[in-house]
Amino acid sequence: MFCLTTPTDPEWAPLALADLPRLLADHAHCELKAAVNAMSLVPRLTEFTRVTRVLSELAREELQHYEAVLLLLEKRGWPLGPPEKDRYAVELREACQALPRARDIGPAVDRLLVAALIEARSCERFKLVIEALEATDADPEVRALYTELFPSEARHYVTFIDLAAECLGGNRGLAEARVEALAALEGIIVAGLARGTVRGVVHG
Ligand SMILES: [Fe+2]
Ligand SMILES: [Fe+2]
Repeated sequence: MFCLTTPTDPEWAPLALADLPRLLADHAHCELKAAVNAMSLVPRLTEFTRVTRVLSELAREELQHYEAVLLLLEKRGWPLGPPEKDRYAVELREACQALPRARDIGPAVDRLLVAALIEARSCERFKLVIEALEATDADPEVRALYTELFPSEARHYVTFIDLAAECLGGNRGLAEARVEALAALEGIIVAGLARGTVRGVVHG
């Protein structure tokens, strides 16, 4: 999906759906991390006023997603619990930081592109959850939540690429070439994580 180079392991969705309380709690944390990540980029990009406004809007939207997932957790009496260790995001950020960059591409632009990749992976997994729930006709409420969130995350992927291009003086080709290079690393990381350890929607 989008620029992803490696599909999620087919065993991921059945494992994730076998423990819905855990999937949803992890998902809630991912939405919160996405909001925090977008806000943390604002002070790093103050020379681009429009970019900071869009990031603020995006953070607000991620918080609304966080609240939507929390509402369902509350309704079901399922605990949020503390966030689990996110090896995927840590490894992805470290690998991207280590990848040599053209001079025009600063660390903040790279962070926008890493955020785009995380949105792409989230979208892919939302789709897997929706399809698996459809196939078994299970839990229409959870399916409705993921169906509602899917288009926003797809839009966020495009938004992050747009913002990176804007920070590169409108050079979309440079942003796209860089995200492709980062996507190759992301694919290696996803393939390298042991089966079943990337449980979450890896959203931030
Ligand atoms: Fe979200
Ligand atoms: Fe998002």
